[in-house]
Amino acid sequence: MQITIIGAGSMARGIATRALAGGHTVILTAKNPAKATRLAEELTTQAAGDAAVRAGDDSAVDTAELVVLAVPFTAARELTTALGARLSGKVLVDISNPVDASLEALVVAPGTSAAEEIAGAAAPGTRVVKAFNTTFATTLVSGQVGGTPLDVFIAGDDEAARNQVAELVTSGGLHAVDVGALRHARELEGFQLLHMALQISEGGYGWASAVKLIAP
Ligand SMILES: NC(=O)c1ccc[n+]([C@@H]2O[C@H](COP(=O)([O-])OP(=O)(O)OC[C@H]3O[C@@H](n4cnc5c(N)ncnc54)[C@H](OP(=O)(O)O)[C@@H]3O)[C@@H](O)[C@H]2O)c1
Repeated sequence: MQITIIGAGSMARGIATRALAGGHTVILTAKNPAKATRLAEELTTQAAGDAAVRAGDDSAVDTAELVVLAVPFTAARELTTALGARLSGKVLVDISNPVDASLEALVVAPGTSAAEEIAGAAAPGTRVVKAFNTTFATTLVSGQVGGTPLDVFIAGDDEAARNQVAELVTSGGLHAVDVGALRHARELEGFQLLHMALQISEGGYGWASAVKLIAP
């Protein structure tokens, strides 16, 4: 699968690492092209077999099957509006956590979510999926915490799109949890607000914990 990641920060690194482990082609594009180039060069050593990574320009969106918005929520919404019909038919992955600076509240109104706001800004036919918002960037690089693969919770209104994200997740050695409709992004974002706040509380988890469902 060709995956275009917009952004060249911590989450771009984490998701690209898992995508390369899964044998996918990753194109990194960022507002500062030098940062995308540097990250692609660093990640090249991890591109074994069919996997490949390179930096690209804005046109990488047009050739992608799956586009990941690895930027802050407000930038993700603006980019979605700006890209418009170019995203139509594509799977657009929102990974954002719309939290305030003190980690005390979400910046989206009750009864909606960042994912739904992004879907509202997207051109018709854009298949928005929420995923990776509960996985901290450092844990994505290793793919596990305490020897257990990370869970990635996936919400979206298009089942085929959710399955495509699940394929990225499982091929990268992680565990996909399909939670159904995009409105469940509200719970995923609310839960991650708590998970983030726990990192900075007394005796916090150091941004190295994971959210996992255990079943018999
Ligand atoms: N870090 C985590 O553990 C984690 C976990 C789950 C979800 N998330 C979510 O993942 C997203 C990315 O987080 P991150 O930790 O990767 O952040 P980051 O390391 O700060 O990287 C953010 C990237 O977004 C770019 N960016 C910032 N503002 C932009 C704009 N207005 N237009 C275009 N690009 C812009 C930055 O470019 P410059 O560097 O050039 O400014 C950078 O490439 C956020 O929505 C966050 O809520 C993060």
